[in-house]
Amino acid sequence: NYYAVIMAGGIGSRFWPVSRTRKPKQFIDMLGTGKTLIQATYERFQKIVPEENIFVATNESYADLVREQLPQLSQGQLILEPIMRNTAPCIAYASHKIQQLNPDATMVIAPADHLILETDVFVNDVTKGLECAESKDWLITLGIKPSRPDTGYGYIQYGKSASAPGFKKVKTFTEKPNLELARTFLQSGDFLWNAGIFIWSAKSIIQAFQKYQTEMNEVFKEGVEVYNSDREAKFISGAFVRCVNISIDFAVMEKADNVYVLPTDFGWSDLGTWASIYELAEKDYLGNVSSSANNVIVYDSSNCMIRAPKDKLVIVKGLHNFIVVQSDDSLVICPKDQEQDVKQIVTDVKEKF
Ligand code: GDD
Ligand code: MG
Repeated sequence: NYYAVIMAGGIGSRFWPVSRTRKPKQFIDMLGTGKTLIQATYERFQKIVPEENIFVATNESYADLVREQLPQLSQGQLILEPIMRNTAPCIAYASHKIQQLNPDATMVIAPADHLILETDVFVNDVTKGLECAESKDWLITLGIKPSRPDTGYGYIQYGKSASAPGFKKVKTFTEKPNLELARTFLQSGDFLWNAGIFIWSAKSIIQAFQKYQTEMNEVFKEGVEVYNSDREAKFISGAFVRCVNISIDFAVMEKADNVYVLPTDFGWSDLGTWASIYELAEKDYLGNVSSSANNVIVYDSSNCMIRAPKDKLVIVKGLHNFIVVQSDDSLVICPKDQEQDVKQIVTDVKEKF
């Protein structure tokens, strides 16, 4: 009765120009391991649920990329969204579809674009979560000890130990707080980052949608008759336009009172920015990260991250604390401490390119 849903519909705009709308970061080998991020995610779930129960939810425009990178998936394992409405509609759809297949389904939902260094710990903790969610009406999240007041995460304030070993009841869930609030959370010591990995029974999450996103739930409830049939795609194309654009964190997690957290530590990074890749990568003695091929040449520079395709020659001299990212058709040069701005810049640039 265990299922996994990999969410792979985001566009990863902070990694522009390597992550582009037509090929977002989950479909790229960001770390040079020989596997794209979605392939690595799939392999982790193979260790937890039966292969035929692994689903990938993404935008229709990425369906071919998914088929190419995960050829073992059948058409029925692709959950395709006609338009981007963020993660709440994606999860509502996936939950109803899977519940139609199996009313007793328990599922783990996870992003396609995270790094997890310790697979064994991950497998162990997710399994623990699934076992627990099977019998309890709990919305379970995995919590990571925060290391900086990052405003890009959800913050979970935990309370008392719950009735299953290791789990704690969640007091408050705050998605993407402002910097001031994030600092307070960090200092208080009883907050964790939401890893963005959720575990629950289809029944529990649908109940939560019914309670906190009634309209959205009604939309997907109407499809019960057509899920997993040849009428599904037509129904879905009409359903998504009726949904608001909202993430699961704002839509349900901040509101629900049956949220529980399992604090974990499996070498997690959401690979959200170039700096997060820089932190993980092997550096030369001056702190530079560049490709091992000879096409990047660095003189008198330190603490730089330089990336370029093999057929582009890039020469850097006298540069410190910068990110230099060359793709086939674009180049970005940006001080490391201003890289959060890349997201906004991409929004501006996209109007033109
Ligand atoms: N199928 C589908 N459809 N997937 C989507 C969509 C969509 O419309 N939008 C985003 N995704 C995918 C992304 O590709 C990513 O794998 C995952 O859903 C999460 O979306 P992000 O856009 O990356 O969310 P976030 O990083 O800002 O915040 C979430 O993750 C943080 C941890 O990395 C939240 O859950 C935070 O609370 C959490 O701390
Ligand atoms: Mg993310």
